[in-house]
Amino acid sequence: MDITQLILDDHHEQRRLFAILEQVDRADTESLAAVWGRLAAFLEVHAAAEEAIFYPALLRVGIAARRKAGVEDETLDAIGDHNEIRDAVSEAARHPVGSDDWYAAVAGANVANGDHMAEEEREGLTDFRRLAGLQQRHDLAVAFAAYEARNITGVEPVDKDPAAYVSQVEEGAAGVSEGSLRIGGLRNQSASSLSAVRVSWWLSSHVPSTA
Ligand SMILES: [Fe+2]
Ligand SMILES: [Fe+2]
Repeated sequence: MDITQLILDDHHEQRRLFAILEQVDRADTESLAAVWGRLAAFLEVHAAAEEAIFYPALLRVGIAARRKAGVEDETLDAIGDHNEIRDAVSEAARHPVGSDDWYAAVAGANVANGDHMAEEEREGLTDFRRLAGLQQRHDLAVAFAAYEARNITGVEPVDKDPAAYVSQVEEGAAGVSEGSLRIGGLRNQSASSLSAVRVSWWLSSHVPSTA
């Protein structure tokens, strides 16, 4: 498995659920509420899983590869985007399903999520494939799938301050020195020893403790 593929798969499912919503008769509020309830919970769980597992790993491999500024920018953008998505989901909950205001809030969530997914796929996921080895991507995929499975019915949506989030992760990554991982380093080290180091970084501070 590969965590970047699981994230892409989730994005596809989110696009599919938004497309299904567009095709439900607006008078069929029971179906609209059921599909939106599934999508709203999924958007929040997906963002929380990325914040618990993917972005800490991206920051760590970026720091080790002397790409700190780049991965920090990507993470700051992503956490800000996740807040926008969570806020749009909350806004929809304030209106009767099927009302004009509800449709406007769902459309806002679709725009925020669509813009975010495109950026995440173009930047964070691409960088992570370049910087992280297959074993780490597999191990993180297992953790990501388990996190989402444990929280299948949803998580408490909590907006995060992007800068505080990055600082907190970097404090936990204090043992990761810049330049300790070169791009293409797998060619010069055994894959198993390198991935063991990377996984230990992640495990040391980011085994999801709740959820
Ligand atoms: Fe995502
Ligand atoms: Fe995301």
